[in-house]
Amino acid sequence: MCGIVGYIGDKSPVEVIMTGLHRLEYRGYDSAGVAVVNKDGLGCIKSLGKLKILDAKLEESPLLGQTGIGHTRWATHGVPSEVNSHPHFNVAKTIAVVHNGIIENYYELREQLKATGIEFRSQTDTEVIAHLVDKYYQGDLFAAVKRALKDCEGAYAIGVICKDQPDVLVAARHGSPLIVGLGENEGYIGSDVPAIMKYTRKVMYIENGHVCEITRQGVKVEDVNGNPVQMEVKNIEWDDAAAEKEGYPHFMLKEIHQQAAVLRNTLGGRVHEGSDEVQLTDMNISKDELKACKKIFVVACGTAWHAGMVGKFLIEKFAKVSVELDLASEFRYRDPVIPENSIMIPVSQSGETADTLEAIRIAKSRGAQVAAIVNAVGSSVARESHGVVYQQAGPEIGVASTKAYTSQCMAFALFAIWLGETRGVLSKVEAKELITHLRQIPDKVDEILNNQDKIKELANRPEYRDAVGCFFLGRNVNFPSALEGALKLKEISYIHAEGYAAGEMKHGPIALVTETFPVICIAVKGETYDKMVSNIQEIAARKGLIISVATEGDKSIQAHSKDVIYIPECFEAFSPILVAVPLQLLAYYIAANLGCDVDQPRNLAKSVTVE
Ligand code: F6R
Repeated sequence: MCGIVGYIGDKSPVEVIMTGLHRLEYRGYDSAGVAVVNKDGLGCIKSLGKLKILDAKLEESPLLGQTGIGHTRWATHGVPSEVNSHPHFNVAKTIAVVHNGIIENYYELREQLKATGIEFRSQTDTEVIAHLVDKYYQGDLFAAVKRALKDCEGAYAIGVICKDQPDVLVAARHGSPLIVGLGENEGYIGSDVPAIMKYTRKVMYIENGHVCEITRQGVKVEDVNGNPVQMEVKNIEWDDAAAEKEGYPHFMLKEIHQQAAVLRNTLGGRVHEGSDEVQLTDMNISKDELKACKKIFVVACGTAWHAGMVGKFLIEKFAKVSVELDLASEFRYRDPVIPENSIMIPVSQSGETADTLEAIRIAKSRGAQVAAIVNAVGSSVARESHGVVYQQAGPEIGVASTKAYTSQCMAFALFAIWLGETRGVLSKVEAKELITHLRQIPDKVDEILNNQDKIKELANRPEYRDAVGCFFLGRNVNFPSALEGALKLKEISYIHAEGYAAGEMKHGPIALVTETFPVICIAVKGETYDKMVSNIQEIAARKGLIISVATEGDKSIQAHSKDVIYIPECFEAFSPILVAVPLQLLAYYIAANLGCDVDQPRNLAKSVTVE
């Protein structure tokens, strides 16, 4: 989604802003722009397309000044174009605004402003903010922004500068993420920590309804009515190198390779060396609440929803609590019945997904205890939930989620064991046995990563690489693995891929299987292995090109498959974590062989902050 960076201080605003915008590229965008206050007024340069085009324009016509704002846009209102890209201005071009989110009453506001004679330049909702700030401006930008925002409904994070007050940068948040960074006689704004982490580690997470006036002297935060707000300054402890590729050609490949370490992190903080007891203290759910819980709601979007499906399986199996799994975008509109003593588990890598946030608000308003599985520390999902299990996966830059998915599955496994033990469904011995299985997972992930030649070879074979469509099939706990495998392949390679529960094939999809149609079958050893083998035989009988993902040592599967990818032997309930890895690698190498933009696939954004 869109990215915001702003700066006030002695450094070159353009340099700081462009560095920040490049750091936010992973979020996805279609155009970009930067505006700076200088002696001639407000200078601005915009461009359609990638940031390197804007870089070239800025090199040709440098923008000098002391305060500036920049933006990468992911179109919501109005086509991707230079005119619609931010910053947007008032009529006299004395006020510039960048904005993330959606002003829901923009049409009404636009009509009101047009009736006063204002001619709009763009098709965006954002432009109304610039005209509104102008309308209320009487020499105090901070006051004008606060007043203008009272007229706006919807979600926003904004940055505003003004020609007549070059020493002031104003920012505000309502629904879309925003941070303020602090330095010596300088200040920064950003829509995400990586935007400013090259320059400062001291940040304030701005809350909904807050407006900030940033000057070289410091930051003043108030609500829109002018009531002062005390903000805590937090220190970012992320490693700067974490945001770089570390020698891998793509962030996605680097993140796939980080998974063993990430899984050790997710596990390590919760099951300490020498102990076999799960501790999820930040979930903020008491033992009594866990015992009383009758229903769990899991809500998420996309890949996180697939992790939620694995979670449903694990919770029902190990804790015997009924789980309702919902796409957050459906949950919020279906008037869900939430019985007393319900727990909601929202799942989100970014912690900023608009639909997931709304689902949380609905669940809270109906009395549910909300405990989130989240990666981004301090994100909106984390802050709006009563409790949290941080995935500890570090920043995920590749748009296609990999390490976040496997660490979400790991977090669910921990939660299911914890819940099962607390409710007396699992004995200490059983819980300990499960923990032993979980502890083996990271080493097994390493094993898969160290033996990926076969996957690379398959990804380069024309019958797979150039396929126009394919299926991923799984059963039971590996049904979500099939959905996730298909999503990974389609989103980065643009090959049409569908995930199905293997038992569903006969009910329609098998009609598509021909001798040129790849079918990736997840057939690891476990309860439904024999059923899966029957499904494989049915596809083989229709001459489908079968790649089986099977357990090391299973030779018999070769008889029915064209190719086999082996994974280490593993406790079935936790096998989705292992199965995900070869499927991620297969998708990655096929997409890379096809020359696709793996880290920033077309039309996709890393963080979906609009519904
Ligand atoms: C796909 C992918 C998306 C996200 C979804 C939810 O690879 O990454 O499907 O899983 O947009 O995002 P978060 O987890 O940030 O809420």
